[in-house]
Amino acid sequence: MSIETKVFGVTKNGETVHSYTLTGKNGFAVTLIDFGATVKNIIAPDRKGELADVVCGYDRLSDYEDADGYQGAVVGRFGNRIGKGRFTLEGKDYTLYCNDNTNHLHGGRVGFSHRVWQTEIRESGDADRVIFSLVSPDGDEGYPGTLRVTVEYCLADGCELVISYRATTDKTTVLNLTNHTYFNLAGFDSGDVLEHMLYLDADRFVETDAELIPTGRVLPVLDTPMDFRTTKPIGRDFDLTYEPLKLAGGYDHCMVFTDTLHDPIKSPRAIVTEPKSGRTLTMYTSLPCVQFYSANFMSNPDFPFKGGYTQKKQHAFCLETENMPDSMNHEGFTDCVLKAGEEFTSVTVYRFGN
Ligand code: GAL
Repeated sequence: MSIETKVFGVTKNGETVHSYTLTGKNGFAVTLIDFGATVKNIIAPDRKGELADVVCGYDRLSDYEDADGYQGAVVGRFGNRIGKGRFTLEGKDYTLYCNDNTNHLHGGRVGFSHRVWQTEIRESGDADRVIFSLVSPDGDEGYPGTLRVTVEYCLADGCELVISYRATTDKTTVLNLTNHTYFNLAGFDSGDVLEHMLYLDADRFVETDAELIPTGRVLPVLDTPMDFRTTKPIGRDFDLTYEPLKLAGGYDHCMVFTDTLHDPIKSPRAIVTEPKSGRTLTMYTSLPCVQFYSANFMSNPDFPFKGGYTQKKQHAFCLETENMPDSMNHEGFTDCVLKAGEEFTSVTVYRFGN
């Protein structure tokens, strides 16, 4: 195992951005950049040992700065949407910057995905780590409290990316940290993901409106295209006459895991298999939900991916582990509040196989 550091580029503000490549076994390798604490490449072997890059992203730093897809980044303070960018906490009203129509998305104008994080590297025999950290000041994008965040990427077992999040605050605040990697297990440049087989251990999903803001209802997946509890191709029920899929233009929903007494280390919440290459992605998490997103907005011709590959809808999928979007505005939604003196922690594991 080893970590190789290189200069990736310089931001428009003159900050130098580095890339860090962690190498595991059988050619498995992960490249991260400190801009957005972003996953830039994941090279994974197929069943014949052939390697492919299974995540979307760009060759140029300026594309990470300018494009709007949050490719591979850590999003925060709050992943997904907050309706009208408003909430009330301990009797005080807060208004956030609205960057998605009239709503707040993925942390606002300059969210965590668009900042250069501090980096610490820890190499060890069987588990190399890159630890990114940042301090988000009180009032940042309208959020209360100074938030100190670390995101640790650990390459374990030679084929497993373990992402550990930690945060503390000096004043009560809200947060929803996630990673926004777009996966395509056949290779990011190989077409759509509709034939990928997906199992999702989720029995409910958060209903959203035409602006993708939660209505407040959490609906059962039973007898709907949202049910992935029995493995099926992502595209099998991709039926845009079904209202929730029609409104979102595909899958873009907070899927709620089946129970809360689950041991995140022992049983996976998602398993994805790409039949031709045999590559698999197994996901474990300590969080209660995942945003299953079939990349319905991924179609901006101005930002081709690595090697010049044109981005297209449904050519990747995201599994963004999370608390419920807009949760502070709905009774009974998962808890996104962090108080001074508490520590937020969560862990998500992406294990690759073939
Ligand atoms: C996803 C979100 C989508 C879209 C995307 C970024 O997390 O669910 O609706 O905003 O990020 O393009």
